[in-house]
Amino acid sequence: MNPFSFPAIGVDISDESFKYVRLEHHGGRRSILFFGDQNLPQGTIEAGEIKDVGVLADSLSRSLRDYRSRFPYLILSLPEEKGYLRLIRMQHLPASEIRNALAFQLEEHIPYPPAELYFDFQTVKEATGAKKEIDVVITAYPKKIIESYMEAVTRAGFTPVIFELESQAVARAIISKGTTDAVLIGDIGRTRTTYSIVYRGVVHFTSTVKMGGRDIDAILRDSLHISDAQAQDIKVGRGLDFSSEEIIESLSPALSVLDEEAGRQIKFWDRRRAEGEPLISRVYLCGGDAHLRGLPEALSRNLGIPVQRARIWENVFDVSAYVPTMSAHTTLRYATAFGLALRGDDDLFR
Ligand SMILES: Nc1ncnc2c1ncn2[C@@H]1O[C@H](COP(=O)(O)OP(=O)(O)OP(=O)(O)O)[C@@H](O)[C@H]1O
Ligand SMILES: [Mg+2]
Repeated sequence: MNPFSFPAIGVDISDESFKYVRLEHHGGRRSILFFGDQNLPQGTIEAGEIKDVGVLADSLSRSLRDYRSRFPYLILSLPEEKGYLRLIRMQHLPASEIRNALAFQLEEHIPYPPAELYFDFQTVKEATGAKKEIDVVITAYPKKIIESYMEAVTRAGFTPVIFELESQAVARAIISKGTTDAVLIGDIGRTRTTYSIVYRGVVHFTSTVKMGGRDIDAILRDSLHISDAQAQDIKVGRGLDFSSEEIIESLSPALSVLDEEAGRQIKFWDRRRAEGEPLISRVYLCGGDAHLRGLPEALSRNLGIPVQRARIWENVFDVSAYVPTMSAHTTLRYATAFGLALRGDDDLFR
């Protein structure tokens, strides 16, 4: 069966905008059927919490109206800062019993009343040898968060079928199947940066720092006494490559936040990883501000490992047969949405 026959759209909802992607298959090759984004009025969503369900529902409905009859299902990301992702080791159990066993342990791992959480899990390491233990990644969200997203989507006339953490979607868009490396992904968005440690394609740890494109704009504006528009201009056009010492200097506190957190994650993995598991070999950047010129080079100098912008187009499509219909910059902003659109491919029909 064509894995893309499940009629779902991937939708990445952020505080200030949402983006959507629908892929299709042609002769076994993927291509984009449609994509788009829409800004949300200030105050609709704050730090991942929906403040005005009606406004979000209207906005989704207006943007996606034309697709609704053909694609009535949505695959959605949930705000990273409101979720919990934990790697836990537990006694080996038959697959059918893991969920129940985890439900009893939630309280130990997640600082939130277990009765008020929805959770999901993925087994990342099967028991081998004498030690009958398995590693499981749990993701959990407060029910009220999920329910508010469900309500908005339902009011917009769609049926939500899958929710997942942004970082899980991003990893799917960036890391090719079958990869055995451990890598760090940095998603630098407008409002925050999320780092995730991805091993064998599965997110094992995440952390979010409140440093994003908006802060970079503000730093440039205030330190150089220029307008917001000029700040955007410097960022988009010249970034860290710009030879002015003044710009480089003014951005250095923002850069330190980003590289210190990356460094912490790399060290954390080094301490936590089991024997035989690889060190983090490189960092991939995505999100709109990953385009800041000179940023990968600056981070790489400080971290001592390669840092590069994610090559999402190459991972998702067969570039020898499909010419990019999106600019590289747009592709980085759509990492989450691509990952969600791919999830339809992965799970719903296999
Ligand atoms: N060419 C560019 N160079 C640098 N930054 C850019 C460029 N184009 C857009 N940006 C920045 O990208 C950011 C938007 O990125 P993105 O769409 O990934 O964020 P978001 O998903 O809306 O936000 P978040 O994930 O924080 O909720 C803005 O800060 C914008 O200024
Ligand atoms: Mg984002």
